[in-house]
Amino acid sequence: CAPMVEEFSVIKSISHDNFVYNQLGNDIALLRLDRKVVFKDHIRPICLPLSPEVQKSTSFIGQSYISLRWKQTGKILEGTLNEENVTTEQCPVDAHQSFLCTTENTECHENSGGPLIRLGRYLRSTRQMMFGLASHGKGLCGKGQKAYYTNLSIFMPWILNTLAGFSTF
Ligand SMILES: *[C@@H]1O[C@H](CO)[C@@H](O)[C@H](O)[C@H]1NC(C)=O
Ligand SMILES: *[C@@H]1O[C@H](CO)[C@@H](O)[C@H](O)[C@H]1NC(C)=O
Repeated sequence: CAPMVEEFSVIKSISHDNFVYNQLGNDIALLRLDRKVVFKDHIRPICLPLSPEVQKSTSFIGQSYISLRWKQTGKILEGTLNEENVTTEQCPVDAHQSFLCTTENTECHENSGGPLIRLGRYLRSTRQMMFGLASHGKGLCGKGQKAYYTNLSIFMPWILNTLAGFSTF
């Protein structure tokens, strides 16, 4: 019964200059859409970790988050939103330092670009914030797959500087 999906085109994509191929490090890009997104009940933005306090809160290993992924149920573009409670763990020693790591039940559904979220405080209010951006998994997909998320806190200066070069629609 949800309102219709809306489709947008990407008119520009800016990927991070220091992508590290062998470890998939600094795995992040910004996409500019072809027009302004009009927010409504089913289309909402999410907050990013802006303040240094909120950014530092991701240092704690064992912090809980919610991992969101689309689970395809039928035809392409038909799916349900899958939510899983996960906690961060120490990344493997050979991982690039730009990641937050978890273990998940991926059920073999592709999730790259998906969000790792939890509540955070900003300007005396509590909001849903996106702390991680799904990069890749290691090992067989399914139960207990190691998941690597780009630690967005590290990239806030890059995001803000890049956005500053563009006007709004
Ligand atoms: C994520 O990045 C923030 C900001 O650089 C840092 O304080 C935090 O320790 C990082 N988290 C992990 C788990 O490395
Ligand atoms: C995740 O944890 C919260 C708080 O403990 C709980 O309310 C929620 O039902 C859990 N969600 C799932 C999908 O297990």
